[in-house]
Amino acid sequence: MHSITLPQLSAILSVASRPFSSDFAGARFIQLYLYAHRIDGLQPGVYRLWPDRAELEQIRSGEQRVPAAGLSLGQDLAGNAYVAFSMIGDLERAVRAHGDRGYRYVHFEAGAIGHRLYLAAEAFGLAATGIGAFYDEEVHRHLNITSKQGQVVYHFAIGYPVPDSRLSA
Ligand SMILES: Cc1cc2nc3c(=O)[nH]c(=O)nc-3n(C[C@H](O)[C@H](O)[C@H](O)COP(=O)(O)O)c2cc1C
Repeated sequence: MHSITLPQLSAILSVASRPFSSDFAGARFIQLYLYAHRIDGLQPGVYRLWPDRAELEQIRSGEQRVPAAGLSLGQDLAGNAYVAFSMIGDLERAVRAHGDRGYRYVHFEAGAIGHRLYLAAEAFGLAATGIGAFYDEEVHRHLNITSKQGQVVYHFAIGYPVPDSRLSA
């Protein structure tokens, strides 16, 4: 499979954006940015998701495979994927609303979004992986994130499965 379709991506994003129950529910602290590599119907580029309008705003145009891998600490899977993600957490707003717990809540939310991305990808027969390693400042620069908007807390990639004999029992 050389690409996924825009309707498949939309379905994945819709699952990822659904509200979830928690004792801090309501406020969204995570913004999702996409590195679209191989989506049939969407030009390669960086996009910001506006979940309430189900819209993608283009932040950068052109191939993002090399920068996406580079930003994820040089891990090829972020460039070989169909689509990779940066999750940007508004830590300041979270801490204003919840005190020190805000930091934890931002990461809970990122984890919940990541788990939904895993489930949605698997439902389409795709593979997915969380990526905990990235170059924070370079990500902010590449996405034009100001310190007011927040900071990167999690990366993610959705692609085709690659069997790895080192990991199979
Ligand atoms: C928070 C988090 C961060 C991860 N970071 C990376 C990473 O930077 N690079 C990577 O190749 N895999 C990363 N993974 C994927 C794991 O290495 C592993 O492949 C994944 O959890 C699936 O494990 P399992 O299928 O063996 O249970 C991460 C997973 C999670 C949940």
